[in-house]
Amino acid sequence: MRKKIVAGNWKMNLTLEAGRILTSEIVNMVADEVKSDVEVIINPPFPHLHPTASLLEGSKVKLGAQNCSEHESGAYTGEVSVAMLQSFGSDYVIIGHSERREYFSEDNAQLAKKVDGALKAGLTPIFCCGETLETRESGAHFEFVCNQLTESLFHLSEADFKKIVVAYEPIWAIGTGVTASTEQAQEMHEKIRTHLKSKYGSAADSCSLLYGGSCKPTNAKELFACADVDGGLIGGASLKSRDFVDIVKSF
Ligand code: PGA
Repeated sequence: MRKKIVAGNWKMNLTLEAGRILTSEIVNMVADEVKSDVEVIINPPFPHLHPTASLLEGSKVKLGAQNCSEHESGAYTGEVSVAMLQSFGSDYVIIGHSERREYFSEDNAQLAKKVDGALKAGLTPIFCCGETLETRESGAHFEFVCNQLTESLFHLSEADFKKIVVAYEPIWAIGTGVTASTEQAQEMHEKIRTHLKSKYGSAADSCSLLYGGSCKPTNAKELFACADVDGGLIGGASLKSRDFVDIVKSF
C-alpha cells in the first residue's frame, strides 16, 4: 500500500497573519472533514515554519519546507540548512522544484546533494521532476524526466530510496491553469515507476508519486484515480483552505 499524500506549496506567498489564518482553517477543516488516512502537508516559506509548526501541534497535518541548502552549515548567507528545518519541526522538504531549477539554476548534481542532506537529517524529500512544453513537443519528455531521476536519486541505497516521495510536475501545467490530462499524468507516472523499478525493483511499488500542475478540486478526483498517481503537490489551490481541503478529500 502506498501512502496517499496531498502537499500544499505556498511558494512565496502570505504574510505571517495570513499564513496563520490559512493554517488554522486547514487544521480545523481536516479535523472535521477528513476521514481517510491521506497525509496532508503544508510547505510554507521559511519564516512561517515556526508559527506553522505551533499551529499544527496535535493535528494530523504535517510540516514541510520548500527548499534546503546542500551545505550542512557555515558561511552561506541567506541559506537554510536541513538541521534548521528539522529543528523547526519539518518532516518533509521539497527538493528540485522547477522554479528552483529555472530561477536559481539548481541542477541534478546539486539536487542529489540536497536529497542526501535531507535524508541524513531525517527529513523526507519530495523530489520534483518534470519537462517543459518544448521538451514534450520534441518527444523527449520521458527520457528527460527519467534522466532527472537517475542523476539525482539513483546513487541512493534501497533503504534511502524507500524514504523518497517523487512529484511529477510538467512545467507547462504549473500555475497556467492547463492541467495534464489523466492519460498524460498516468502515462508519465507509469514510466517513472517503471524507471524506478529498473533500479530499485519492488521498492518502487511503495514509492508515492504525486502529480503537480494546476491541480484543483475540479480535477483532483480524476487525477488521483489514476493507478500510479498517489496524490498531489498543490500550488495556487493550496492558498485557499476550502479548495485545498476539497483536494485532500478527492481520494
Ligand atoms: P500550481 O503549482 O498548482 O499552482 O500549478 C504546483 C507547484 O508548482 O507545485
